[in-house]
Amino acid sequence: MMPLDYIQVEITTLCNARCRYCSQSKISDNTNQHSMDIKSFNILLDRISGFTNNIHLQGVGEPLMHKDFESIIFSCKQKNLTTSTTTNGTLLGHVNLECLDELYISLDSIEQWEDDQRLGIIPEQVVENLDDLLAQNRHPRIYLTSVVRDTSVAQVAKVLNYVHTRRTQISGVVLVPVLDIYASNDLLSPNVRREIATLTRSFSHLPIFDDAVTNTDDSIHSCGWLFDKLYFDVHGILRVCCVRGGNSNDIALGSIFSDGLKTLLSQDHFLRLMQRMRREDHDAICEKCIESGLCHIWR
Ligand SMILES: C[S@@+](CC[C@H](N)C(=O)[O-])C[C@H]1O[C@@H](n2cnc3c(N)ncnc32)[C@H](O)[C@@H]1O
Ligand code: SF4
Ligand code: SF4
Repeated sequence: MMPLDYIQVEITTLCNARCRYCSQSKISDNTNQHSMDIKSFNILLDRISGFTNNIHLQGVGEPLMHKDFESIIFSCKQKNLTTSTTTNGTLLGHVNLECLDELYISLDSIEQWEDDQRLGIIPEQVVENLDDLLAQNRHPRIYLTSVVRDTSVAQVAKVLNYVHTRRTQISGVVLVPVLDIYASNDLLSPNVRREIATLTRSFSHLPIFDDAVTNTDDSIHSCGWLFDKLYFDVHGILRVCCVRGGNSNDIALGSIFSDGLKTLLSQDHFLRLMQRMRREDHDAICEKCIESGLCHIWR
């Protein structure tokens, strides 16, 4: 078997923010949230060993809120695995990221604005944290990731301007269209996609990963989940992807703590899903995701 591009692990569902477009917004406090303890994380690492060289630490939650985040990335390093994570940027400066290879910082805007949906996050503070990190001699490779909505084109322009001023230090910007399966937002409209396409052309000197936003054709694209990347939720359950993951119980393909990865991947349920994806026989949730272009983001 070819090694998987990466395996994504949700290490905690705790979050210090409540972004309106995120499923976290439906959860009032952190009492029923979970974290994968370091012992379980190490068992998971042992069980996936040989299937990938890259671990991405992300789910629905803020990874830097995990109390053992530093030990988790150290464990990966000891096993010669590269690590990346996606963070809301609020806790940068409080956690030692020496063992981390890539850091994706979510930044929809560089300042608070009228339709700011990232409740509990002060963008100016995130930018300040980011600038402090950039000022350090050693830091992980840094990418920004921005959720794009119909109201946010001007904000995207400002984020790209900010990146322009720090272009030697920021390795890329990922533009992600807002997806309505978490909440009830409208998907990005075709006109705004076109506006973003024009905008990114004017920043063509920057590494912008924007296919998902600017792609205006209606063709169905197959998704890489199941084939070249996998997602484990905070309980160690293998799920189809992070979009369908989190707390939803629609597709649970078994636990890494009960079975080895080889067993999970050779079960009928998994193989049938793969065949359906190959035939582009997607179910409703995948169709929405494909429409929005979200399944492109990591490709
Ligand atoms: C769920 S968060 C978890 C990591 C961390 N808490 C953060 O905000 O970066 C992962 C990414 O999903 C994005 N996200 C959340 N809700 C979304 C939605 N409805 N559509 C598209 N992206 C979304 C966030 O902006 C973030 O970049
Ligand atoms: S997008 Fe990230 S920071 Fe915002 S509520 Fe969701 S998990 Fe928390
Ligand atoms: S098409 Fe979208 S929802 Fe379906 S498995 Fe792929 S990424 Fe997940």
